[in-house]
Amino acid sequence: MKLKNLLITLTTLVLVENSAKAHNPTWTDSIACIVYTHCTSCHNQNGIAPFSLMTYNDVFQNRFSIASSLQARSMPPFPAKQDKRKYAHANTLSDHEIDEIVDWVNNFAPLGNANNIPTPPTYSSGYQIANPDFVGKIPTYTVTSNNDVYRMFVIPANNSTQQTIQSIEVYPGNREIVHHALVFQDTSLIPFTLDQNDPLPGYSAFGGTGSPTSKLLAVYTPGQGAFNFAPGFGAIMLPNSYIVIQMHYPGGVSGQVDSTMVRLKYGSSSLRNVTTVAALNHGSTLTNGPLFIPANTVRTFNNQVSNTVNRTLTGIMPHMHLIGRSIKAYCVTATNDTIHLIDIPEWDFHWQYFYQFQKPILLPAGSVIYGQATYDNTTNNPHNPNNPPQDVSVGEGTEDEMFLIYMNLSTYLPGDTNIIIDTLSHFPHDASCFQTTGTNDYNRLNVIIYPNPTSGLIRLEGIKTAYLATIYNSEGKIVFTKTNETNEPLNIQHLTIGIYYLQIRTKDNEVIYKKIVRQ
Ligand code: HEC
Repeated sequence: MKLKNLLITLTTLVLVENSAKAHNPTWTDSIACIVYTHCTSCHNQNGIAPFSLMTYNDVFQNRFSIASSLQARSMPPFPAKQDKRKYAHANTLSDHEIDEIVDWVNNFAPLGNANNIPTPPTYSSGYQIANPDFVGKIPTYTVTSNNDVYRMFVIPANNSTQQTIQSIEVYPGNREIVHHALVFQDTSLIPFTLDQNDPLPGYSAFGGTGSPTSKLLAVYTPGQGAFNFAPGFGAIMLPNSYIVIQMHYPGGVSGQVDSTMVRLKYGSSSLRNVTTVAALNHGSTLTNGPLFIPANTVRTFNNQVSNTVNRTLTGIMPHMHLIGRSIKAYCVTATNDTIHLIDIPEWDFHWQYFYQFQKPILLPAGSVIYGQATYDNTTNNPHNPNNPPQDVSVGEGTEDEMFLIYMNLSTYLPGDTNIIIDTLSHFPHDASCFQTTGTNDYNRLNVIIYPNPTSGLIRLEGIKTAYLATIYNSEGKIVFTKTNETNEPLNIQHLTIGIYYLQIRTKDNEVIYKKIVRQ
C-alpha cells in the first residue's frame, strides 16, 4: 500500500512537471502534418506498410510503437547515417519532429481542435513523368509463393538510336506488394534468353540480372517518386537496349497480381553522361579476398581502388545480401583528407537505396577510394538464411554474398561541386508543421536495454537517475509500473509472451520508449 502511494505521488509529480515544461502538441496542430509528411506515403490503406497511419485513431492506437521506432530511428527506413554526410531527398525526421511526437505521446496524445483537423493526403496519384518518351510494362504477374520473391522482367526499350535518360519512374502496378525494384539496362541477349527459358513471365534472380553487361540505372523504394539524374547529367542508353527490372515482392502475398510500369524521360544529347559502375567490388578490388565467410564467423573485408583522374560523384549504392551487417565507403586524398561517402551501420537488405548526395562530390586525381563491409554468418544474425549457418561465398543466389559499391561517376568539370541536387536536410514542408517553437530533448538519452527479446529480466544501461518504468501492451494498456532507484534489473517474467513498449521517465523528466519482446 505504502509503495503504491509513493508510486502515485511520483507519477503525479512527474506529470505536473512535464506539462509545465512541454507545450502540449496536438494532432491537429502539428502531429498530423509530420505523419502526412514522413509516414503515409507507405502507411496508407493501399501502401506497402502493414498498417495505415492516415487517421488520428490509427496513430493514437500505434503511438507507443511509433515513439519507440522514431527514437530508435528505425522508421522511416533510411539506413545511411547522416551525421557526416547528408543525402538528397532523404526522408528522415529532424530531432525537433521526433521530440514533438514523443511530447504528444507523453501528454496522452490529444486530438486538439476537431474543427481544424488537416485534410489527409490522397494516394491515387498520377504520374510524376507526365510526358514520357518511353513507357514499358512488365507482363501481368501473379506471385506464386508466400516467401520473398525476386523476379526479373525484361522490357525492350525500342530505341533504334542512342538516347540519354534524364529521369526514370517506376510506377507500381500493385502498391501493396511492390517492396522495391532495381532497374538495369542491358544490350546483351542474356536476360531476354533467361526470360524465354522460364515458362512464367520474367525469371527468378536474386542478386544481379545474370548478365555481366547489365548496368544499374536506378532503384525504386515505396514513397519515392521519379529518379532524376543530377541537373545537367543523364545516362546514355545504347541503341536497342533492354530495360531489365528486378521486382521484390515481400512474403505473404501469394496470389496477388502486379504489372509495374517503367517510364523514361530522355534529355538532350548534351547532358553529361553518368556511368554507374561497381567501383568497389568483390571481384577485382578486394584487398583481403576472396569473399568467403565460413559458417559461424564474423568477417570484415576491405576494398580499395586508386583514382587517377578528377571525377564527379553524384550518387552511391552499396549492395550486399542477407548476412551483410554493415558497409561503408570513403575517399582519402593525396593530401590525406578524408571524404566521407557512406556509412550504413545496420545493413538491411530490404531497404536499399541509390543515395544521391546533396551536391556532387569531387573525387580528386591521386586519391584512393576505400570500402569496408562486415558479414555476420552466425546464429546471432536474425537475417541469416541458414540455421545452422553454412559456409558462404560470392554468388547471385539468396544464400550467396556480394560486396558491391556502385557509384554514379562523370568526368569532373570545375563548378560541379556547387550544383544543387537537393540541399534540404529533410522533406520540404517540415518547417510548416510547427505552430510553436518549444522543444524537449527527449530522444537524446542513449539507453540500451538487454537482453531483448527477454524471458524475464531486462537490464537498462545509460540512466543516471531514479526513474519510473511503465510498460504498455500492444493495445496501449498499462501492464506494469515500477520506480527504480538503482540500476537493478526489471523483472517482467509475469507478462505473457508478446510485444510491449517500455516507457522510461527519469527524474530529470527525460522520456524514452523502447520496444521489448517477452519470449
Ligand atoms: C518507405 C516506406 C515507409 C515509410 C516512409 C514509413 N514506414 Fe513505417 N513501416 C514500413 C514497412 C514496410 C513496415 C513493416 C516492417 C518493415 O518492413 O520494415 C513498417 C513498420 C512500421 C512500424 C512497426 C515497427 C515495429 O517495430 O513493429 C512502425 C511503428 C512504423 N512503421 C512507423 C512509421 C512512422 C511513424 C513513419 C513516419 C515517421 C513511418 N513508419 C514511415 C514502411 C514505411
